Amino acid sequence: MQDRRTIVITGGAIGLGRELTRIYCEQRHRVFICGRTEVALEEVRAMHPEAVPVCADLGDPDGRSRFLDAIHEQEGSVDLLIHNAALQFSHNFADGCTPVERIETEVLVNLLAPIELTTELLPLLGQSSEGRVVFISSALARVPKKSAPVYCATKAGLSNFARALRYQLEETSTRVTEVVPDLIVTRMAAGRGDKALSAFEAAQKIVSGIAKGENEIRLGRVPMLYALHRILPDLAYRILKAA
Ligand SMILES: NC(=O)c1ccc[n+]([C@@H]2O[C@H](COP(=O)([O-])OP(=O)(O)OC[C@H]3O[C@@H](n4cnc5c(N)ncnc54)[C@H](OP(=O)(O)O)[C@@H]3O)[C@@H](O)[C@H]2O)c1
Repeated sequence: MQDRRTIVITGGAIGLGRELTRIYCEQRHRVFICGRTEVALEEVRAMHPEAVPVCADLGDPDGRSRFLDAIHEQEGSVDLLIHNAALQFSHNFADGCTPVERIETEVLVNLLAPIELTTELLPLLGQSSEGRVVFISSALARVPKKSAPVYCATKAGLSNFARALRYQLEETSTRVTEVVPDLIVTRMAAGRGDKALSAFEAAQKIVSGIAKGENEIRLGRVPMLYALHRILPDLAYRILKAA
């Protein structure tokens, strides 16, 4: 067994986060997770004594505080913080009836919560000899699709935040990784594409990239998409527009 580390995974009870939680719990690390779905959190608690599930909505300041309080109560460093939780809503700004509350929730959960949690947990990450913050972004940060403008904007923001944070932490012991997934078979990607990765496969690649200390982990067809975007950007935009 490796040294027991303290790991924080937002949205760690469902989808990709669930697989990350499983892998790190099987390695016997202590894993703090949050989410809104009590039953999913309880399932994780029942299967993994190493997990510390906290029912918390990251779109709500009280939820963010509750999650942070649970992490601070453990009185130790944080070795790995994975910003995984996110929401994706379809919007059509052309039809003039985009609910503002949905926009707000998407921005809060996908962008503001990771920035706020990072700010609050940097001191604990700094206490670790090899602290790392991981942001799960998306290829849509670079090549957006038509149906989810707010999601694409939040992921572009997250991606840029990750890079700028990496610059700022260069002289510290805390490292920053951005993960750019391909489509993954989860609730978020339901019914889209037959070339999707399984959550298990994606999580394994992420854990392995983190262990190697990679700054950026591009999954599946993302390297190809980014190369196409560099050479023929209009073609890349056309392909992803209707994704
Ligand atoms: N699936 C894909 O094809 C794909 C592609 C590129 C990037 N990604 C990224 O990969 C990450 C994982 O997504 P996924 O595919 O696993 O999606 P998912 O199955 O929908 O899971 C999303 C996770 O986020 C949590 N979450 C959502 N809203 C929350 C809130 N307000 N407060 C706390 N937790 C919240 C969910 O838990 P609750 O519902 O219980 O709150 C769940 O654990 C996301 O960052 C996503 O943007 C996914």
